[in-house]
Amino acid sequence: MILDKLGREIRDLRISVTDRCNFRCFFCMPEGESYEFFKREDILSFEEIVKFSKAVLPLGIKKLRLTGGEPLLRRRIERLIEMLAELPVEDISLTTNGFLLKEKARDLKLAGLKRITVSLHSLRDEVFSRMVGKGVKVSYIIEGIEEALKAGLWPVKVNVCVVRGVNDNEIVDIAKFFKKMGVIVRFIEFMDVGSAKDWSLERVFSVKEMLNLLREHFPLEPVEKSHRGEVAERYRYVDDGLEVGFISSITQPFCRDCNRLRLTADGRILTCLFAQDGYDIKSLIRSGAGEEEIREAIISIWSKRDDRYSEERLELLEKGMEVKKIEMFKVGG
Ligand code: GTP
Ligand code: 5AD
Ligand code: SF4
Ligand code: SF4
Repeated sequence: MILDKLGREIRDLRISVTDRCNFRCFFCMPEGESYEFFKREDILSFEEIVKFSKAVLPLGIKKLRLTGGEPLLRRRIERLIEMLAELPVEDISLTTNGFLLKEKARDLKLAGLKRITVSLHSLRDEVFSRMVGKGVKVSYIIEGIEEALKAGLWPVKVNVCVVRGVNDNEIVDIAKFFKKMGVIVRFIEFMDVGSAKDWSLERVFSVKEMLNLLREHFPLEPVEKSHRGEVAERYRYVDDGLEVGFISSITQPFCRDCNRLRLTADGRILTCLFAQDGYDIKSLIRSGAGEEEIREAIISIWSKRDDRYSEERLELLEKGMEVKKIEMFKVGG
């Protein structure tokens, strides 16, 4: 086991497979159309991703999560899942915006994906479309979720980014809707990622507020953390036992247990979601380095790690300090 400077181990590996996305969520993408996406030759191939994963799994990694941008836009993503599923890892999951899920759910399951998380922030077409910057029918994403359930991807989770004044009035409806479907919802506080526009502390609807609201409608009981560093605070509906989660990166940061290593699509290592830059690992992978050498490089990066941006955020804001962060769609959450 290897520990960083704050005594945190590596447990999850989040692999971003593309920075491209077919949505333009205002809370993730910067304003305007002039994004600079990675060039094709700069993106890690499946073989390179697998080589990296194989090298670092022995460091204690229990979970792989594929992210984007939108990971289902990566051509033949099922093939990558097949390749990763052959590695000795307990859990392989993927976070998607759900647009391509209806057509891909079965193949993802067949390839070896265990479970899936879909981002869906509103049940109203107009609100949802405004949030994701594209005219999308909510029912279409829900059909994708149903397909995932049918395919046996279990559990299916739904991530809801809650923005005050935009969708906070739907929290109870969303909870009710997915409770009926047996889908675990996780309500996420609006975060100041990258250069996402319009973030301010006033627009953060806190987990405390969300819980107060939900408790008016459902009896809830807390669920014990399943392991150190779990991101969501979990609760259970007393009547049916289904879980619901809350992610409080702003009001109750969880950096002290943060155990996630992130690999970007262009082969950089990030040790924090809010990192300003990453460590190039692609050059090493492409230089023909062996697994041992890649593992040593990660050990060296991780042992120097002391990131705790979410804990420092309020201090920085008070001081009026601007921090230049990497874009969320390049990190995948
Ligand atoms: P499970 O294994 O299903 O519990 O998933 P997870 O919570 O690890 O993954 P998911 O991608 O669904 O994470 C939910 C959201 O929490 C992400 O999309 C981010 O918005 C946020 N999040 C995840 N990891 C971090 C982190 O390390 N720091 C911060 N600040 N937020 C995070
Ligand atoms: N605040 C909170 N959640 C966000 N996500 C993207 N941007 C933000 C933000 N600014 C969510 C996505 C997805 C996950 C990767 O993170 O909706 O569920
Ligand atoms: Fe795309 Fe997800 Fe970012 Fe929305 S949050 S723009 S779906 S990567
Ligand atoms: Fe981990 Fe950085 Fe998120 Fe803190 S802000 S929990 S260190 S990724």
